[in-house]
Amino acid sequence: MQLIESIAELRRARAALTGSVGFVPTMGALHRGHLELVHRAASEQQHVVASIFVNPTQFGANEDFARYPRDLARDLAALADTRVSLVFVPPVTEMYPADATTRIDVGPIAERLEGAHRPGHFTGVATVVAKLCHIVTPDALYLGQKDVQQTLVIRRMVRDLDLPVRVVVCPTVREPDGLALSSRNAYLSPAERALAPALFAALDAVARCFAAGEHDADTLRELIRQRLAASPALVVDYISVADPVALRELDGLVEHAVVSLAATIGRTRLIDNIVLGTP
Ligand code: PAJ
Repeated sequence: MQLIESIAELRRARAALTGSVGFVPTMGALHRGHLELVHRAASEQQHVVASIFVNPTQFGANEDFARYPRDLARDLAALADTRVSLVFVPPVTEMYPADATTRIDVGPIAERLEGAHRPGHFTGVATVVAKLCHIVTPDALYLGQKDVQQTLVIRRMVRDLDLPVRVVVCPTVREPDGLALSSRNAYLSPAERALAPALFAALDAVARCFAAGEHDADTLRELIRQRLAASPALVVDYISVADPVALRELDGLVEHAVVSLAATIGRTRLIDNIVLGTP
């Protein structure tokens, strides 16, 4: 596994790889969720390239960019046990020279849900993922369902800008109690951690209700609201039952939907989602 910090060197090393390349972009603090993406890429492609870059442009001014967990030695040790060929770890100045001003605006889908709470977040995500794809030129890009809106924003950007890359979305990896793995789970105190499984428990209750025949969007949203109200320490940001392409809120009976939610426990904001029905 080669550790690379400059764009020029990454391009050289990439050009020397023959056969298909899968790319796994990350912000580090790697956990089993990230490693599943790497394993999936390794099972489908001849080579895997990963990146570790805490992207400043996707963090709001009052967000956790400065305290985001960073442990490069631990991340490299985790990747050393995988089939990753190249790990790209650029400094911020390499990705964003001081006079860089171009940004990618994906449109309304980037303004809903997470985008409404975090203005500019998906512009930062789309811009860095587009840059990384131009640098790495992968055949396939591996993303996690955990960040469902991110997957939809990136899919749309790839389509709208004709980026020659296939987007592969991998299932959310969870703790045994249902909590979706996230680098930000490290912020939770033991008491907060004990409350966190309530998010997935509410989503799971909706999945069971849907399977039992309850397909009304408002009823499903209300069911989640009631389940989460049982944990007053959990402050709900949004509960959404939306179409799985543009993430517009649905009314009436739904056959196929993304159910997503965001809530804050103490100072930590957590998100999760499930998909109901089949297209
Ligand atoms: P990061 O939060 O580090 O996540 C990197 C990738 O891992 C994303 O595709 C994310 O959806 C996936 N992932 C995280 N937790 C997961 C879980 N529990 N199960 C499955 N996949 C999981 O997402 C980002 O970084 C950044 O926005 C990035 C795309 C790298 C752009 O900066």
